[in-house]
Amino acid sequence: MMFDEPAHAACARPPDPPARPSSPTLAARGPDESAADYLGRVRHYVRGSGRREPAGTGARLVDEARCRALLHDASAEFAPWLAQAGTSVEALVRGTPAQLAAALNHMQREASCLTMSSDTVIDNVLALAHDVLARGVPGDFIEAGAWRGGVALLMRATFEAWPDACAGRRRRVWVADSFAGLPRPDPASDLADAVMHHLMASIDSLRVDRRGVEHAFAAAGLLDEQVRFLEGWFADTLPGAPTGPLALARLDGDWHESTMTALEALYPRLSPGGHLIVDDYGLPTGCARAVDTFRRTHGIEAPLRRVDHQAVYWSKPI
Ligand SMILES: C[S@@+](CC[C@H](N)C(=O)[O-])C[C@H]1O[C@@H](n2cnc3c(N)ncnc32)[C@H](O)[C@@H]1O
Repeated sequence: MMFDEPAHAACARPPDPPARPSSPTLAARGPDESAADYLGRVRHYVRGSGRREPAGTGARLVDEARCRALLHDASAEFAPWLAQAGTSVEALVRGTPAQLAAALNHMQREASCLTMSSDTVIDNVLALAHDVLARGVPGDFIEAGAWRGGVALLMRATFEAWPDACAGRRRRVWVADSFAGLPRPDPASDLADAVMHHLMASIDSLRVDRRGVEHAFAAAGLLDEQVRFLEGWFADTLPGAPTGPLALARLDGDWHESTMTALEALYPRLSPGGHLIVDDYGLPTGCARAVDTFRRTHGIEAPLRRVDHQAVYWSKPI
């Protein structure tokens, strides 16, 4: 989700269930197919190339006037907190109604896409996955905030792409999401997140149907016992999740509370040498505050590396 650079934001408003009638099945990795070629095909699939929704599917286009009205509504709804903080909704979302409309519409148009992540972000996930597999860092992979599941699906595909690096380890990919959209933040503690949530309600708060995500994995031949779903709010699912150690954790829950909950539950499980990606550090939400607070509280000095203008990661020292 990005309001400042809609060219990188992608899809929202899932088909319900997504793309079932028209989605092609992705063939399994061929015996002579290189890892790069196979991952290229999976990536193409995740991007929705070749799948087309019927015109109008899920399209409830938001125009500039609607965005102006949404910002106006938010100004009224959150007036006491805005006054207390001495700010405005425009300042919090860091965007004009036109930019906001462009971002929301960009999301809605690409209804066949299984991820909203940019190519740079996907490159980074694949590189870090390869790194932990190649070095034998023990543990599973997890995406907390999977939405339509495209990045988690690519994570699962890396086990097929580099089977030698997985030999002897039955790794799993954990797909964590409410499958009910973004939670409603408390404006008293997370005002920017609450305002964003108000705006995102116009596109169903990124609600997705779990069956559609399972279907996307199945159509790629990647829905098996190595894929596990954690359905529900992070606060309920992550602390007791039966993951064991983690080699790669990707947090993409947008809000302060979602990020903090995931950090507290998952970082202690990250194996030394493993990587933790936070997708939303550059968003105008409370995500960065959660990361900075967590790192400070736990004395984490491992360098925070930028992936693009939004995502960051760090590696747990060995
Ligand atoms: C921005 S989307 C994730 C995008 C996806 N990772 C991708 O790359 O396309 C954020 C997702 O996080 C989920 N989410 C956010 N906070 C959550 C929470 N506290 N518990 C469960 N799910 C949450 C939302 O339901 C939504 O699907």
